[in-house]
Amino acid sequence: MLDSLHRARTEAISKILGNSDKNSLEQIRIEYLGRNGRINQEAKIITSLTKDEKVEFGRALNEAKRAIEGALDEALSEREAVEQQSFDPTIPGILPPVGSTHLISQAIEEISSIFTQIGFTRRRYPEIETDWYAFEGLNMPKDHPARDEQETFFVEGGLVLTPHTSSGQLREMLSSKPPIRMINIGKTYRRQSDLTHIPMFHQFEGLVIDEGLSISNLLGTLDYFAKNFFGEKREIRLRPYNFRFTEPSFEVDISCDVCGGVGCKFCKQGWLELGGAGMVHPNVLKAGGVDHKKYRGFAFGWGVERTYMMKSGIKLGDIRTILSTDIRHLSQF
Ligand code: PHE
Repeated sequence: MLDSLHRARTEAISKILGNSDKNSLEQIRIEYLGRNGRINQEAKIITSLTKDEKVEFGRALNEAKRAIEGALDEALSEREAVEQQSFDPTIPGILPPVGSTHLISQAIEEISSIFTQIGFTRRRYPEIETDWYAFEGLNMPKDHPARDEQETFFVEGGLVLTPHTSSGQLREMLSSKPPIRMINIGKTYRRQSDLTHIPMFHQFEGLVIDEGLSISNLLGTLDYFAKNFFGEKREIRLRPYNFRFTEPSFEVDISCDVCGGVGCKFCKQGWLELGGAGMVHPNVLKAGGVDHKKYRGFAFGWGVERTYMMKSGIKLGDIRTILSTDIRHLSQF
């Protein structure tokens, strides 16, 4: 007598549990508790029961109704709670942290755009080189002490990690014909690590080959770069130096931004050292297959990080911090 009623009750409750759809909950209410619903259908058998049975059945009937109503109420109030925490599209969002171009990439982009504006072509040559491109072809014979000075990383198979971008001079001469105007920017490697040196750094190497070039063309080019990169007030000067692959050779200095050229603790009597330059040595022109009687060339090679650190207003005391990828550090520049 009670079996069918119990079945109806469990059936109803299992349909309600986990249901959060208002309409379908209302359907369930009608299906089970409505005037012609399952519970009232079940109640019909009451007329055929004895007095005692009626009492027992009546109690079970009320319990079943209450249980189904309770489950329905619970499901509806759960649904309301979910509705109340719903998404408000007018609340401003949380911005994800935005990165910025790395300092070195910024510097490289700026340097190449300054040079491409005056007709230089941007190049990038291998970072792993043969001895010939890195040294021998640049007029540095096997026993030359400059090879030790470079503090080179040697790799298996007689290869080296390029200690300078000058190896690109030979690659450029051998792969194109004069007039040449290249700006080769790439990674360079030396065994060094202190406040002003890192083992992997970048250099930019300019090479110009044409007829009738002289030191004044070199000076004019470097001055153009310095004014555009560092600012109108900055001056450059050439100091005699010795590189095997240029003759004459120079070290290039830029006037100090901190003291304006008078001399202070950041500079040497008003000047900061930038890098090397010179007129391409005839032996190097020969090695590059360039007619050294017809053409002359000039070249310069500077460190990107070092050059960037000397820009006005950049106060990076330790060159190693330039490698940081911490956004808090990078977003200052
Ligand atoms: N390759 C030299 C260096 O790394 C710089 C240089 C480049 C000098 C071109 C002269 C000409 O120090």
